[in-house]
Amino acid sequence: MNSIAMKVASIALVAGTLAACQTGKQPKAIAADPEVEAKVESVLKGMTLKEKAGQMVQISILQLQDATGEALDPAKLDVVIGQYKVGSILNVMNDAAHSREHTANMVKQIQEKSMDALGIPCIYGLDMIHGASYLTDGSFYPQEINLAATFNPDYARMMGEAMAYETRAAQVPWVFSPVMDLGRDPRWPRQWESWGEDPYLQAVMAKAETEAIQGPDPNHIDLDHAAVSIKHFMGYGVPLSGKDRTPAYIAENDLREKFFAPFLACFRAGALTAMVNSASINGVPTHANKTLLTGWVKEQLGWDGMLVTDWADIDNLYTRDHVAADKREAVALGINAGIDMIMDPYDPECVNVIVDLAESGEIPMSRIDDAVRRVLRLKVRLGLFDNPVWEKDYPEFACERFAKESYAAAVESEVLLKNEDGILPLKGTERILVTGPNANSLRTLNGGWSYRWQGDADNFVPEYNTILEALQARFPGKVAYEPGVVYEGADWQNEDASGIISAARAAYKADVIICCVGENSYCETPGNMDDLNLSANQKDLVKALAATGKPVVLVLNEGRPRIIGDIEPLAKAVVDVMLPSNYGGDALAALLSGDENFSGKLPFTYSKHINALHTYDYKVSEHREVMEGSYNYDAVMDVQWPFGHGLSYTDFSYSDLKLESAGSFKAGDVLKVSVKVTNTGSRAGKEAVLLYSSDLVASLIPDVKRLRAFEKIELQPGESKTVSFEVPASDLAFVGADGKWRLEKGDFRLSCGGLGVMVSCTETKIWETPNR
Ligand code: BGC
Repeated sequence: MNSIAMKVASIALVAGTLAACQTGKQPKAIAADPEVEAKVESVLKGMTLKEKAGQMVQISILQLQDATGEALDPAKLDVVIGQYKVGSILNVMNDAAHSREHTANMVKQIQEKSMDALGIPCIYGLDMIHGASYLTDGSFYPQEINLAATFNPDYARMMGEAMAYETRAAQVPWVFSPVMDLGRDPRWPRQWESWGEDPYLQAVMAKAETEAIQGPDPNHIDLDHAAVSIKHFMGYGVPLSGKDRTPAYIAENDLREKFFAPFLACFRAGALTAMVNSASINGVPTHANKTLLTGWVKEQLGWDGMLVTDWADIDNLYTRDHVAADKREAVALGINAGIDMIMDPYDPECVNVIVDLAESGEIPMSRIDDAVRRVLRLKVRLGLFDNPVWEKDYPEFACERFAKESYAAAVESEVLLKNEDGILPLKGTERILVTGPNANSLRTLNGGWSYRWQGDADNFVPEYNTILEALQARFPGKVAYEPGVVYEGADWQNEDASGIISAARAAYKADVIICCVGENSYCETPGNMDDLNLSANQKDLVKALAATGKPVVLVLNEGRPRIIGDIEPLAKAVVDVMLPSNYGGDALAALLSGDENFSGKLPFTYSKHINALHTYDYKVSEHREVMEGSYNYDAVMDVQWPFGHGLSYTDFSYSDLKLESAGSFKAGDVLKVSVKVTNTGSRAGKEAVLLYSSDLVASLIPDVKRLRAFEKIELQPGESKTVSFEVPASDLAFVGADGKWRLEKGDFRLSCGGLGVMVSCTETKIWETPNR
């Protein structure tokens, strides 16, 4: 942007902000840039209706590949882009990752065709979920659930930067990331794709990743950065049935206060696109929910970005949800609700349906133009008109630094849940039996969205170490292996348990057993299941091993907390590695040996009983044992391990929790709190310091506590640090029964590390704007 344009843009921003203040409206989520807008208008002016409709449709690359599945079919390209004028492509050929070079070559051909046929660049998007997860030669980081367990947003930033850089290096400017569905129901098969159950943690991490992927200026994304598609807007993670893509029922106040929180943070941080929740909320499919799509996002936030559907979800409005009779009705419903681009992976005929609906007036031309402007604006902001493809070196592609970051993130994300009698770290002299279906698999360490949709790491990257290989390298000559149970065949739930006896026999010859259990990889609906308990086979394996009397270290490698209430007592130590990716085995070996120290904490509640699936911010009455006469605020839920639980090889003590600001406050104040944390053990360690608040009396039943701030620190033995938090008092507000944010007069307790301090709000404030 030249300097005059910059000035105009900043005057526009200031003027917009002032006008917004005067009218009580919120400022625009992304400031409009006059140059960008002028380009959008000039392109739009010259477009036919068919060309406009084409920009609103996205097709899967599977429709463009030739018989080998490895190259584009020019005839198909001509149909999809030449004749149907489709403006966007997604997905990977042959349903599998390809190299950077192969991907770049393919995009170049698409762009050539698009510029020739339309004079408008195509926008290609990929599901880069934990790094460049759809490139065979890119860098992978641990899945988001792991990064959440680090309680360190730097890792979200690092992953975002690497993901954007490597994706751009493959000539792709758009990633369908980050995921920010609150994982508040462990039965749901996509819990691992986002940052756990808490809205605040989710918002901090998702915003850090969004900013890292897009870079500093959403109006001008440079060639090291990409556009995000924050997803899945919203309420996707809590289906009543626990099954993927099934209805959720969410109270209006929870929707605004909790589920919207990470999206709001990312919209305000400049997220350029959002993908819509495939399912429904309170009976309304989200793709048809005008209140949410147009009302909450476009109107209330003044957001000028683009809303893309999820996979074939316009079709789902009539084939699955029956809110439309046929494709025509479904397309009209979705676009009139606020959808700008239809991911119609299999069928470009959707373009003609849009044309027909616009001609008949069932979709107003103003809505079509608005949607197309949003698509074009995205392409302009990404610089695609100037550079449909780009000549640039990417010397850091798959570099050592990204690998080191991925390893460090894995180390900080694996959570030590139990360590009886200090069995860990291992002494190094023990004879070790490594067993379990997850012991020798890169597929399980990576989970879904790894080279293939359902996860297929073993067939792509043999050079990384499984848990077994990493332990063999760390303890040469000490490790025996008997899997006991193995995953078999295409179905991720299929197991062969015929090796349990051999594993138990081998256990007699060992001094310690490292039993790696959990889940095989899966993604989305195929990950549905009917019992959150760890599989019976795997439980039998643990029981057989424990019966030998040898100490069992249980390693959980899973995308959601499978229930282990009955076998947990049989283990001396438990580590949840979740889905730590390609360096997860090395990280675990370093942690078990004591070369590294544990510092991960659970970003979700690990439930103990199948009928008691809770989140940490429950209502006091949900506590299992109701205290006589009253409910007890200090009661601890009967869960396996609470949110925020995670042990270290050292000990930390908390003291001097102090209020640095006044003991009473008003909505505009900032609460300042400090706490002293001391490493009282004998080795260095990192500690995530978590600050909670509890609203003691409120007009809606208050949550027992809510995370308000956190910081990860490192302490040497004997060292103390004072951690200071600043929490805007307005963060303690909640959404009331009338849907309005409110901070109510009365007492709050701030707590940290088992200590508490009281503060008092002296006035009730009610916000008239939808968002604070
Ligand atoms: C998933 C999305 C994904 C899309 C495109 C859908 O099935 O729900 O998360 O981005 O496919 O691959």
